[in-house]
Amino acid sequence: MTLPAGISRFVVGVVGVVVVALGAAGCPGTRGAGRPALRFLVPANERPFWLPLAATFEKEHPGLRVDLAEGPVNTDLRESLTTAALLAGDGSFDLVYLDVTWTPKLAAAGWLLPLDAAFPEEARRDFLPQALAAGVFRGHLYRIPFRTDVGLLYYRKDLLAAAGLPPPRTWSELEADARRLQKPPGLSGFLWQGAQYEGLVCFFLEVLRGHGGFWIDPETLEVGLDRPEAVASLEMLQRFCAPGGISPPGVAASKEEETRRLFQDGRAVFLRNWPYVWRLAQREGSPVAGKIGVEAVPTVSGVPGAGTLGGWGLAVARTSRHPDEAIAFIRHATSLASQRLFCAPTGFAPARRDAYDDPALLAANPFLPELLKIHASAAPRPVVARYAQASDVLQRHLSACLGGLASPRDALVAAARETRALLGSEP
Ligand code: GLC
Repeated sequence: MTLPAGISRFVVGVVGVVVVALGAAGCPGTRGAGRPALRFLVPANERPFWLPLAATFEKEHPGLRVDLAEGPVNTDLRESLTTAALLAGDGSFDLVYLDVTWTPKLAAAGWLLPLDAAFPEEARRDFLPQALAAGVFRGHLYRIPFRTDVGLLYYRKDLLAAAGLPPPRTWSELEADARRLQKPPGLSGFLWQGAQYEGLVCFFLEVLRGHGGFWIDPETLEVGLDRPEAVASLEMLQRFCAPGGISPPGVAASKEEETRRLFQDGRAVFLRNWPYVWRLAQREGSPVAGKIGVEAVPTVSGVPGAGTLGGWGLAVARTSRHPDEAIAFIRHATSLASQRLFCAPTGFAPARRDAYDDPALLAANPFLPELLKIHASAAPRPVVARYAQASDVLQRHLSACLGGLASPRDALVAAARETRALLGSEP
């Protein structure tokens, strides 16, 4: 395959990084030399929690070892690294730890092994249906869900109660409550992920759905970004971060962790984020322990909103020299025992159904039953093979608007035009 010069330079660069990362994570000749290794890339912040899963697997499969290469936390960066490694076809990875949005692209390129036979109907019933569906592309199963995500609205229960306010159901209620309770710069009204990356797309889609709009219809490939609902959504976000608004200027450069830390420090009334925040914010020593509540994201009408479906799963790289062992690892990682090991200490949401009434997991995270209800209406991002490019287009234009470089209408008209051109060549 011939690549444009810029891209091939980039690919060579990132493959280099992958190779270095793999070397650092465990090259032949170090731990467990001589035993076949299953290699894959995990985000640096999760690696410590993957190690016990690798150790229990190695114990049950004495002939094998698991090499966990450490990659960036940001999904967009890891997607580029993964793509580069799979494109190089050098067998760097046996397994792929992939976001819900990566399945169509990696499967359409032929880089993943279908898992239909390895995970028949009966085995699939173990998983939350939304999380499982994110692994299906053109009728085949490629990805088994490991942990799931859904966008949530966190709020300061104590501050709302003191003002006699119920949790907001509509965006106008949230805006009014935030204006009333905020005391900037010490206490902000509303924090969300506004940096130019995938997290902004996840949040924008919640706002867009809550306004009755849509981004891409995956069936017809129709694009809804230049419709009035989309413009109204972006106008609202622009107003939130304008001077005198309910979100601090820094929100337009924030990702999940920056907003989580501020909220956890007691510096915001409302926060949009993923389920993992609950356990961290409620744990002993957290300034907001016992003071937070969680709801579905607001909408214009007040009907509980559909949070964006997120989450991570495992697939087998077609170039793996150990596909059967890789499948055995997926079975191990997605067992109830492994979900306990991984989700209890981190607060990440398990992908298995039985985890939601498991006493050990409930003890670590009593929020699970409530989460399960909200998760039931989680909305997927569009299943298109050119998802990464479509997201990049949207990220750029949303960010230009939030940074004051374009009006909401101009930004979205341009994004719609580019997205239509891009989808015109959808494989
Ligand atoms: C979380 C979600 C993932 C999403 C990402 C955006 O990791 O699980 O689906 O793409 O956040 O930042």
